Amino acid sequence: MDNHEKILQEVRQALSELRQEEKAAGQEALGRLQELRVKYLGKKGEITQMMKQMGTLPKEERPSFGQKVNSLRQKVEEAFEQRKSELEERIKEKKLAAERIDVTLEKPEAGMGGVHPLTKVYRQVRGIFEGMGFQVVEGPEIEFDKYNFEMLNIPKDHPARDMQDTFYVTDDIVLRTHTSPVQIRTMLGHQPPIRVICPGRVYRTDDVDATHSPVFNQIEGLVIDKGITFADLKGTINTFLRQLYGEQTKTKFRPGFFPFTEPSAEVDATCSLCGGKGCPACKGAGMVEVLGCGMVNPKVLENCGLDPEVYSGYAFGLGLDRLTNIKYGITDIRLLYESDVRFLRQFR
Ligand code: DAH
Repeated sequence: MDNHEKILQEVRQALSELRQEEKAAGQEALGRLQELRVKYLGKKGEITQMMKQMGTLPKEERPSFGQKVNSLRQKVEEAFEQRKSELEERIKEKKLAAERIDVTLEKPEAGMGGVHPLTKVYRQVRGIFEGMGFQVVEGPEIEFDKYNFEMLNIPKDHPARDMQDTFYVTDDIVLRTHTSPVQIRTMLGHQPPIRVICPGRVYRTDDVDATHSPVFNQIEGLVIDKGITFADLKGTINTFLRQLYGEQTKTKFRPGFFPFTEPSAEVDATCSLCGGKGCPACKGAGMVEVLGCGMVNPKVLENCGLDPEVYSGYAFGLGLDRLTNIKYGITDIRLLYESDVRFLRQFR
C-alpha cells in the first residue's frame, strides 16, 4: 500500500472515531475535527508537506507526483467537508430536540379575573350621575398651584392650606391634593350651564395607615347655571346616596367649612352595613360621613370670569376609597391597593 492510501485510511479512521465521541458533545467534536484538519491540510500538515517535497524530485516525476498528491488532497478535503456537514446537522437536531415545546400539553387553568372594588363603585357612582345629566371630565394629576389652591380661594400662606399636606414639584406646581382644580379648568374652558363630575387620583404627604394613603381617589361634582340653589344641591346628593346605598338611606347635612364653597356642608348617610343601628364600621353612630359640599363661593366664580350676580352653583367632593370601604365594610384602606387576590376574589 503506498503512503497515500495509508493517509487516506488514517483520515477515514480518525473521522469515524470522531463519530463515537460526537454523541457526547457536538461542539467539542467540531473542534476536534478542526484539529485533525490542521494536522493533514494545515500549513505544516502532512499533505501540504508532501507538496513541498516536489522540488526535490527529478523533473519528469513531478507532474505525476503532483497529480497524485492533489487527488489525495481532494479526497481528504471531501472527507472533512462531509463529516463537518454531518456534524453540524447533528448539532442542529440535538438543539431542536432540546428546545422542543410540547404544544399538546394542557396549560394551567387561566383564572377568571374580576373588576376591582374601587372600579366597581366608581362605575356605579358614574352611572348614577350620568343618569342625572352629568358629564365626566378629567384634569391633570400634576397641577398648577394656582388651580389647586389659589383660584379656589386658598391663597398662599393661608391657614386653610394646612388642611392638605402637599407634594410640591416646584413652587408653582403640585401633585393635586384634590379634584377641585378640575372645577377651575372647567369654568375657565366652558360657559354655563355646567354639570360635570371629575374623577381621579389625588396626592397628599400622608403616612400610610388603615385610613390614610398618599394616593387616593376622589370624585368632584360641579353644577353652574342661572338660579341654582342649595335645594338643588340637597336633592342631587340625596338622590345619589339613595341610589348608591338603598332607598331607605337617610342623610344629614351638617355645617362645614371649605374655602371654595359658602355655605358649606358635610354630609352623613345611614351606615349601609347596619342600617343605622350602630356597628363597628360606623363606630356605633349609625351614620357615616360620606362627602363635603356647598354653594360655589362667589369669589371662585369671579376668579373664573363668571358674574356671581348672574350665575350660581354647587360643588361636592367625595372620596371614592371611603365610599367603597363604607359600602363593603372594609376597615383598612391598604387592602384596596395591595392587590392581594385573597381579598380581591371576594368581589368577583
Ligand atoms: N376638595 C375637598 C377635599 O379634598 C372636598 C370637597 C369639599 C370638594 C367640598 C368640593 C366641595 O367641591 O364643595 O377635602
